[in-house]
Amino acid sequence: MNRGNAVPMVSLRGVGKSFDGHRVLAGVDLDVHAGEVVSLIGPSGSGKTTLLRCMNFLEAYDEGEVRIRGALLGYRLAQGRRERESERIIAEVRAPVAMVFQQFNLWPHMTVLANVMAPLTLAKRMHEARARELAGQALARVGMSGKADALPGQLSGGQQQRVGIARALAVHPEVMLLDEPTSALDPELVDEVLEVIKSLSRDGMTMVMVTHEMSFAADVSDRIVFMEKGRIVALGPPDDMVRRPTHPRLQAFLQPWIRRSLAPAPGGAGLPARSSQP
Ligand SMILES: Nc1ncnc2c1ncn2[C@@H]1O[C@H](COP(=O)(O)OP(=O)(O)OP(=O)(O)O)[C@@H](O)[C@H]1O
Ligand SMILES: [Mg+2]
Repeated sequence: MNRGNAVPMVSLRGVGKSFDGHRVLAGVDLDVHAGEVVSLIGPSGSGKTTLLRCMNFLEAYDEGEVRIRGALLGYRLAQGRRERESERIIAEVRAPVAMVFQQFNLWPHMTVLANVMAPLTLAKRMHEARARELAGQALARVGMSGKADALPGQLSGGQQQRVGIARALAVHPEVMLLDEPTSALDPELVDEVLEVIKSLSRDGMTMVMVTHEMSFAADVSDRIVFMEKGRIVALGPPDDMVRRPTHPRLQAFLQPWIRRSLAPAPGGAGLPARSSQP
């Protein structure tokens, strides 16, 4: 795709982060363009969540630059030195970015509707009536209008995550960051959430998603990023990354998944179907 001189939605240059002297991000460069879906994969501890959290400054990176639509996030330059930006400006720069969490992070004592309204009334100081309207639209978008008055504890995990997605959508973000949005769910509840994410991608939503759902990542992503030890080791379209990986480390990482997806399903897929047997 020729992007001309379009400013990336999210741009990372040399992004680094250390915790207690341990460098968990070691210089990450990545551009995410409008309408792109980028999936982050890699072993546990490789820095996927930290990278995602740096993209909206939930985690303060300490090397390099994160830019949202060209605007530097989190810092300003003062006499050649970098200083932390005011919370007001940080909020402004990150305004186009919304996050969906693995554990949903809904307030248990608040109704579904109130949860989805909260970022609008609290963070964006929107009038109650307008917030209610936008929250209602977002709940309809994920098929959860019927549960607006329920408490999160009365919903299944899949429904709770759809509310989590609605809460992110309600602010009309330009980029959504999703950290393993289905990994806290029972297997039978995964598909309803993946279906919502897929429909957002069809609508052109820009998304960066950490996931272990390889088939889904291959299906929905424009590019897949493989991380290891705080670095991007390989990056490319799903065909090159998941279906025909050539990088040896990536091949090793995907091996268990490839073995599983080639293995006959329990009950004898690969054998003649029961009905065709005499
Ligand atoms: N707040 C923190 N304080 C100290 N160390 C941290 C903190 N957050 C992350 N780390 C460390 O940073 C490294 C990267 O963690 P991160 O959560 O980004 O990995 P991940 O790729 O998302 O792993 P997983 O697949 O298990 O979710 C790990 O070694 C982790 O222990
Ligand atoms: Mg993680």
